[in-house]
Amino acid sequence: MMANDQVSYRHWRPEQDSEGIVWLTLDRADSGTNALSREVLEELALLLDNFAGSPPRGVVIRSGKTNGFIAGADVHEFTRITSHAEALELIQRGQSILTKIEQLPVPTVAMISGFCLGGGLELALACRYRIAASTPETKLGAPEVQLGIHPGFGGTVRLTRLLGPVAALDLMLTGRAIDGRKAKQLGLVDYAVPERQLVNAARATILHPPTPKRPGLLQRLPGTAPLRPLLAWYLRRSVASKAALQHYPAPYALIDLWQRYSGNLATMYLEEARSVATLITSSTARNLLRVFFLQERLKTEGRGADFKPRYVHLIGGGTMGGDIAAWCVLQGFHVTIQDLDHGRLAKVVQRAAGLFKKKLRSPRLVQAALDRLIPDRDGAGIGRADVVIEAIFEDADAKRALYRQIEPRLRPDALLATNTSSIPLEELGQALTRPGRLVGLHFFNPVAKMQLVEVVAAAGTDPAMVARAMAFVGAIKRLPLPVKSSPGFLVNRILLPYLLEAVAMEMEGIPASAIDRAAVEFGMPMGPILLADTVGLDICLSVARILARHYPIEVPKRLEELVAAGRLGRKSGHGFYDYKNQQPVMPSGKAASPLSELAERLILRLLNEAVACLRERVVADGELLDAGVIFGTGFAPFYGGPLHYLQTKGPEALRQRLDDYAMRYGSRFTADQGWADLIAAGKGGA
Ligand code: NAI
Repeated sequence: MMANDQVSYRHWRPEQDSEGIVWLTLDRADSGTNALSREVLEELALLLDNFAGSPPRGVVIRSGKTNGFIAGADVHEFTRITSHAEALELIQRGQSILTKIEQLPVPTVAMISGFCLGGGLELALACRYRIAASTPETKLGAPEVQLGIHPGFGGTVRLTRLLGPVAALDLMLTGRAIDGRKAKQLGLVDYAVPERQLVNAARATILHPPTPKRPGLLQRLPGTAPLRPLLAWYLRRSVASKAALQHYPAPYALIDLWQRYSGNLATMYLEEARSVATLITSSTARNLLRVFFLQERLKTEGRGADFKPRYVHLIGGGTMGGDIAAWCVLQGFHVTIQDLDHGRLAKVVQRAAGLFKKKLRSPRLVQAALDRLIPDRDGAGIGRADVVIEAIFEDADAKRALYRQIEPRLRPDALLATNTSSIPLEELGQALTRPGRLVGLHFFNPVAKMQLVEVVAAAGTDPAMVARAMAFVGAIKRLPLPVKSSPGFLVNRILLPYLLEAVAMEMEGIPASAIDRAAVEFGMPMGPILLADTVGLDICLSVARILARHYPIEVPKRLEELVAAGRLGRKSGHGFYDYKNQQPVMPSGKAASPLSELAERLILRLLNEAVACLRERVVADGELLDAGVIFGTGFAPFYGGPLHYLQTKGPEALRQRLDDYAMRYGSRFTADQGWADLIAAGKGGA
């Protein structure tokens, strides 16, 4: 330790206690979160090298931040990597620094509280022991696949060695995070203890080091040479059902790496680094990284205002109101919910209880959540609420009548929001003495799954209220997207032409299943026909009718006929498809044209509308547009968003394709004027 005393570190704080244990605290400078930047790792290397002369009794690595241990490698540095060689150098340097921890001749402990993800987990794996807090906030995981790569700092080697291949590959292929207790059950950590006992447990482990855990024979067995191909085959098959190789190469690369090299650990380190260097410079990883930054940007949008709401009042306990209420409760809010139809309120509580059980598990936490959800037939909560959300029928008169009634009872500073999916705020605000206070909060169905919320503002909306709405969305852990009040806002407006093109194709006799397959092969999470059935054909029809009043959209007869016949989609058991146990029965059918052509037709309609929205500034810029479409519709994330895709393909070439389709199918493919600007910008004209 002597040498360390003379060096001052920016990110690490080494302290030696009277028993000779070094407590190495990572408190990354100029950042609220610990991430493993190059500088953080190099400092660690220096510290570890200094131990060589006089090793301490043991080393405990812990975090100086309250929010977690280490969130991962510094992803901002990934964007600066320009070549495979540069990537390889960076990764191998990281590997060698973590190996220094592993090679210390004394016991080492990672003391984990809060998140321990990606490179953070890899660092913990290089320690001889891991001790985690048993709090639900403690999350351990290897989410690299979500960024189009896999662990690269020795994680693929150490995790499989520690847990056996089945559990290790499962963690790395799904990217899911587990809490401290589950990590203990799995063998990922040696102990899971209450937060206040972490220090003592770490100390005791250094002073009386137990034999490090190793997986049992049963766990190791699938990794033996004869069984490896079998497990690899099984894993490839299950990955293939979720992600196509050409779109998401990382999980396949991980399985290959393990199958080919896990018999020889030294080679596996090298091949791990090579594999990540290839992946990290691929377009998939770059685009997924872009999506990650877009998500961060939306999160930041939700952090601006100093607004700390606690009480939420919902009016309308239908599909949306009920689910929004339950979600807010799950995020710790006190919620009152009001409905004219009292039977609806009982159903809201019942549905919410299902969600709480699924998400919270512990009966005590479920009960506490239920206690925060209060059916409120007469709207007693209105006067107390920080946020009032209206989610009654989509009827402007009914909404206005309600606002007139409730406005005098609202707190002057309360946020009043509507979940309308189509009525312009200007029309609704007329009923208020302070129209500028009304903001749109457009949630998507199902609320618990869809991360995006469009925050709608009209020209006269009070900016302070918009800021509050953004902060509220952030507080309930959703992603707020600021949009201009215009028909369909951003997401429905862009999605509708794509859905309607699918209906047009179906009317031409192209089998629905082929249309859906074409979209899925392109990379959409679900085909448009199945999506329409899932959203509800009545809802699609109503959105189409409303948008048709403002844009040159033709509402397809087929949609009207299906709704008139009571075929509303999944919820009624019949739509474009028939449903058995909620699952679509998809008749197989072949389309006359290649699937790529069908996909092109669908996507061009979507892109054309995206260009129109950008030109009209429905959102402030192209990044927000891409973020909205990805998080609001699931648009194939590995393309980085519709506008990014458009730029990659080249606006001029795509515009030409639109013109070709316009010749064949008519004016719905007429290119928006906005294309000219994009093409000019591409040529350096803007
Ligand atoms: P819903 O028909 O399921 O529920 C509406 C509820 O409001 C009913 O329970 C009704 O009893 C209650 N209600 C009507 N007038 C009321 C009043 N004056 N006071 C108290 N309660 C009243 O409707 P849903 O689907 O939940 O839609 C609600 C709003 O959310 C609409 O504006 C809709 O456009 C919007 N929306 C709907 C989405 C969807 O997928 N269903 C998605 C996004 C927004």
